[in-house]
Amino acid sequence: MSQSAGHALTLRSISHAFGAVVAANGIDLDIRPGELVSLLGPSGCGKTTLLKIIAGFLRQTSGDVLVDGASISHLPTHQRRIGIVFQNYALFPHMSVAQNIAYGPVAAGWPKAEVAAVVTEMLDVVQMAAFRDRLPRELSGGQQQRVALARCLAIRPRILLLDEPFSALDKNLRLDMQIEIKRLQRQSGITTVMVTHDQEEALGMSDRIAVLSRGNLEQFASPSDIYDRPDSLFVNTFVGTANLLKGEIAGLSPSGAVVRLADGSLIETGRATQLVPGARVLVPVRPEGLRVSADGADGALAADVTAVMPIGPSFIYEVALADGTPVKVVQERDETAPLSGPVFLHIKPNRISGVFADLPDDTQIKGN
Ligand SMILES: Nc1ncnc2c1ncn2[C@@H]1O[C@H](COP(=O)(O)OP(=O)(O)OP(=O)(O)O)[C@@H](O)[C@H]1O
Ligand SMILES: [Mg+2]
Repeated sequence: MSQSAGHALTLRSISHAFGAVVAANGIDLDIRPGELVSLLGPSGCGKTTLLKIIAGFLRQTSGDVLVDGASISHLPTHQRRIGIVFQNYALFPHMSVAQNIAYGPVAAGWPKAEVAAVVTEMLDVVQMAAFRDRLPRELSGGQQQRVALARCLAIRPRILLLDEPFSALDKNLRLDMQIEIKRLQRQSGITTVMVTHDQEEALGMSDRIAVLSRGNLEQFASPSDIYDRPDSLFVNTFVGTANLLKGEIAGLSPSGAVVRLADGSLIETGRATQLVPGARVLVPVRPEGLRVSADGADGALAADVTAVMPIGPSFIYEVALADGTPVKVVQERDETAPLSGPVFLHIKPNRISGVFADLPDDTQIKGN
């Protein structure tokens, strides 16, 4: 699949409006050759719109799409050499698996021998050789998914686009297909853009994630940066489980801030850009950045256990702070930590990368 490998994809200031709805608002993305990038965001944020613009099904209102630095915006879909797999696979129902895979190469006028060779190769790649003469309706969802992928790869696309490729699959099959697509993508080195609204899928599969909200690019970064160092309250809240402790800036330092929480305790945090002492803030802490214990040394926060769920080797605690704020904690089973009543909550070192302004408008975290 060497012709498919290693193409760079650039979106430059892509905007798109459907009447009054701005589905894309000046999106800039530089996707490196061979990268798997996920577009992640809530329903209606503009993910499919971007894929359609890349594929050429939709002409952007403004901005440019480039492959290897050359604009493709003027090219019709069939000349872009971009493969797209939609959520519903859309296989031709009256054609066999082999005929489905051969469709693109035949339509492109490839010689018979080359069509036969690519069909055999693709059947091998997706491990469906034994099913070559079946009709789509004689296949399981996962098998149809593989055929859809093989059909798409057969034309040797420069870029692979996947729109919610796993949403029709049940949970176990989903994980198998995620692993399989990741393997195929690595092997082939094909630059891939995948749309999902499943944050775990994005975190698990992607080299980088573009988080979108209402047509805006909120953050484009590695899964660990998105999870541990979110740029905005929206990203923090949309990806993973987020506790938000209320407080106010007590002081600023070159590396961050000291925040006074509702109960008066002081904690150090990372960056607090554009905030001034006295500003009301929300301090994000992931459940695994906290620990519950019976002892209250070192500025721990007083809390009450409201629920404990044992999940495998871990406990998930829900506790309430003195001001009533609910907080989730995940920790290893620990005989010394109380399962009910008053406890102390410890924030582990370096778990607070930054703080967010606590604005009265709660729409800031809702996206849509
Ligand atoms: N053909 C259209 N005409 C008018 N508005 C549209 C059209 N297609 C999409 N939109 C609007 O543009 C916005 C973005 O839609 P898009 O399909 O890109 O969202 P999405 O992120 O893919 O959502 P989902 O997760 O539900 O698939 C939405 O507000 C949607 O209602
Ligand atoms: Mg969509």
